[in-house]
Formats: sequence, C-alpha cells, structure tokens
Amino acid sequence: MHAIGVDIGGTKIAAGVVDEDGNILAQTRRVTSPDDPASIDRAVCDVYDELSQKYDVGAIGVAAAGFVNSARSTVLFAPNIAWREYPLQDRVQSLLKKKVRVVVENDANAAGWAEFRFGAGREVQDMLLLTVGTGLGGAIVVGGNLVRGAWGVAAEVGHMRVVPHGHLCGCGNEGCWEQYTSGSALVRDAQAAVLTEPERAHRLVELAGGDSARLTGPHVTLAAQEGDPLAIELLAELGRWIGEGSASVAALLDPALIVIGGGVGAAGELLLGPARDAFANNLSARGFRPLAGFTLAAMGNEAGIVGAADLARI
Ligand code: BGC
Ligand code: NA
Ligand code: ZN
Repeated sequence: MHAIGVDIGGTKIAAGVVDEDGNILAQTRRVTSPDDPASIDRAVCDVYDELSQKYDVGAIGVAAAGFVNSARSTVLFAPNIAWREYPLQDRVQSLLKKKVRVVVENDANAAGWAEFRFGAGREVQDMLLLTVGTGLGGAIVVGGNLVRGAWGVAAEVGHMRVVPHGHLCGCGNEGCWEQYTSGSALVRDAQAAVLTEPERAHRLVELAGGDSARLTGPHVTLAAQEGDPLAIELLAELGRWIGEGSASVAALLDPALIVIGGGVGAAGELLLGPARDAFANNLSARGFRPLAGFTLAAMGNEAGIVGAADLARI
C-alpha cells in the first residue's frame, strides 16, 4: 500500500507518496504559517488532493513538531507552533473530500523511524535520533521498537533540563537542552558573538549581508567550512552540547548509535568530531563500556515524509 507522508515545518509543509520500501514516488510542498494552524490543515488536504490524483493512497501520516497523544490524533502542545490540544487528525479528516485514514506522529519520531528502517540506523536495534533544527527533537528505538511512552510523548529529549535556571524555553521551563542544542541556539550564540567579539565576526556579518539580525545557521556552517575560527568554535560548542547531553541519555538508554539529523548536519565533522569527544569525556563508566557511534542522518530532508508515511501504515 502507498501512503502519503506530510512533514509540517515552521513555514512550509513537504509531502510525498511513499511505497513500502521507503521510496518517494512523487513530492510536493506548500507555504504555511506557524501562527495559523488552519492554514496547515488546509495545506495537508491540498497536498493529498494533488498527490492522490495519480496514486492510489491508503493512509496519510502527518509529522508534527510537538507532543502528540497516544491515539496519534491530537497535538497536545507544541513549543514552537501555535498548537494547544489541537485535534489535527479531526480537522484534516473533516476537510477531506475523499476520505482516508489520517495518523499524526511527532516529527522527530517520524524522522527517526525512517532512519531506523531505511537509513543510518538500519544495522542497529537500539538507536537515538536527534533532529537539530528550530527545536531539538528526539526519537528512541529500543530493541527495534519506537518508544512512545504511556501517553505518546516519550523522547521529548529537547526538554530535558541541562542548565539550572538557564535560557527560557518555548515549553515554559528554563535550561532545556534545546536552548543549547538547536539551530536557534546556534544563531543566538553567533549573534551574541557579533556584539562581544566584533573583530572576529567579520565574515559572519558579511555573509548576513551586513545585518547580524539576518544571520542563519547555514551562514555559520559556510563560514566554518571556509575555515573561519569563530564559526568553527560556534559549531564545536553546539557539538559539545550534543555530546554532553547524549552522554546523559546513554545513562538511561545505552544506544548503539546516535544519529544526528536537521539542517546543522551539513556541518559534518565540524559538529560530529566535538560531539564524539564530549560524549566520550562525559559518559559514566567511560573506559569500561563500549562507546555509542555518532553518525549523520542518511535520509536528509525526506526522513520526516518517509517515516510518517511508514508509520501511518502500521
Ligand atoms: C518539540 C518536539 C519536536 C522538536 C523538533 C521540540 O521543541 O517539543 O515535539 O519534535 O522540537 O521539531
Ligand atoms: Na520525539
Ligand atoms: Zn523546553
């Protein structure tokens, strides 16, 4: 059976028809607004109308950046999108002209499931995926199963406290891991460096067109790849946070592999090297137990689409 996977991002949704082997047969996208959940509902219906004209589709999986309930129907809460107890499945289903099964999944769970089945995690049974983007998402596979928890909201690793009284998070708490390990954190720290170390930030400011308010994660990655020392430090700091936090997660889960997804993955070893070092230096019982591997996600931007579609078949 073919299924459609829809990945809801901050400002756009991407969708595709996916076969049972994880291949994307056709793709489309729409622009949406994170402040307007109704625009997201309509866009999901729209991509279904478009893609189901040429393909026979048995289900839609929708990947959403928030806490999704165990019935896979409602987004209970989202730190970075205006969803509060939002019945996404109902809203989409009631707008559909042709009826089809709709399943809602957490975005990182969807991406992690795709990596586990078809991507970087194919060879392991115990895996942690981190998606480092606007927020920090997590997916946990233990013994070959996706861990969902009692209420559907397990693996919200981005909201583990890593700094007492640290930065305020979109979830309402302070010091969450995602405030230190995300594209947003990278940009915040880069912008702070423009103020505190202007003499070292020339290249970053230049890439941002002279206006540090327009600085993005890809600017930092590009500068680092050119050899800019400040940009390299900023990515190393992000990598350090990935590794230190993962060492704590390993105390709980003992994964064989930690897969890093999201836009910052483009930085490659500039990020992974410091992450591996920090992991090895902070793991409990280090020296007396095997180290988990760190690797980049293999499915790129398509992981959310493929994973959501695959989970919608189950
Ligand atoms: C949300 C997660 C989501 C992650 C990545 C976090 O802020 O709490 O539900 O998976 O961002 O989008
Ligand atoms: Na998750
Ligand atoms: Zn939080």
